[in-house]
Amino acid sequence: MRFNGKTVVVTGAASGIGRASAIAFAAEGATVYAADIDEAGLLATASASNGKVVTARCDVTRCEDIKALMDRAAAETGGIDSVFNNAGAGGDRAPIDEIEPEGWDRTMDLLLRSVAFGIRYAVPHMIGRKGASFVNTSSVAAVGPGYSPTAYAVAKAGVLHLTKVAAADLAKHQIRVNAVQPGFINTNIFTASLDMPAELEAQAKGAIAAMSQQAQPVARGGQPDDIAQAVLFLASEAAGFVTGTSLIVDGGITIGPRHSWDPNMPGLFDALQQMVDSGKAA
Ligand SMILES: NC(=O)c1ccc[n+]([C@@H]2O[C@H](COP(=O)([O-])OP(=O)(O)OC[C@H]3O[C@@H](n4cnc5c(N)ncnc54)[C@H](O)[C@@H]3O)[C@@H](O)[C@H]2O)c1
Repeated sequence: MRFNGKTVVVTGAASGIGRASAIAFAAEGATVYAADIDEAGLLATASASNGKVVTARCDVTRCEDIKALMDRAAAETGGIDSVFNNAGAGGDRAPIDEIEPEGWDRTMDLLLRSVAFGIRYAVPHMIGRKGASFVNTSSVAAVGPGYSPTAYAVAKAGVLHLTKVAAADLAKHQIRVNAVQPGFINTNIFTASLDMPAELEAQAKGAIAAMSQQAQPVARGGQPDDIAQAVLFLASEAAGFVTGTSLIVDGGITIGPRHSWDPNMPGLFDALQQMVDSGKAA
């Protein structure tokens, strides 16, 4: 019960990583303000929880919604101890030579500005609360290209830098700020970002689940709870000496090129050795 008596705000709590985290925080004693634009999904989160989950409609692209969320959580409970700035979606999928300003801005507002103002409007309610901290959702897409569309990757890299800068700014209040970088986690984000027709959704989700099992050195698919456990650690007293950093939770997908860990994917030296071996045999 690491969060007994604490107030925790989780955005994007109607699905995936946010839902798993809201449920895990509540199971460890927190009063959780679960926020999202998907109100039906929020109710499902609350009913799957065996702890206290208060649902709140909040569109994180609207700063006034974020402020109202933080003000409400504090007014009803006396203050805020932790915020998990997590809501997100795939954003604009165009490459840099095709993207338009509207798509760029929409993606930045959803994935980066939302985190900045999730911090901005919560801080007044966190000052003086022992152990207060933020966790922000970045991504392995922040480490380089190939994991996501361009605007998403840039926004998630921005979240990493924002995390460091905010940790410095908020040291004066002894508020910690950290990020989590999920790898390929089996959630609704992929089908939701593509506006998948309903009749194809089950098939697409099956394909995503199968792919997620083989995408990284750890030989199983990444699950929302894998990220939730890291988030709870970063928000807890056990991480009391951890601030301004990021925890990659990706089953090893970023450790190196596929041939470095997959015996079925020959690298350059394997291919050359094969040439040598077959030359000797001839
Ligand atoms: N699933 C992955 O592989 C993966 C990898 C790296 C990072 N992430 C990040 O993890 C976070 C959670 O994603 P997920 O995989 O759980 O996806 P998900 O689609 O299951 O959940 C995302 C939630 O965010 C909500 N949301 C979207 N726009 C919103 C808005 N404007 N205001 C409030 N809520 C909004 C959605 O309604 C949904 O409930 C996102 O920031 C995502 O970018 C996911």
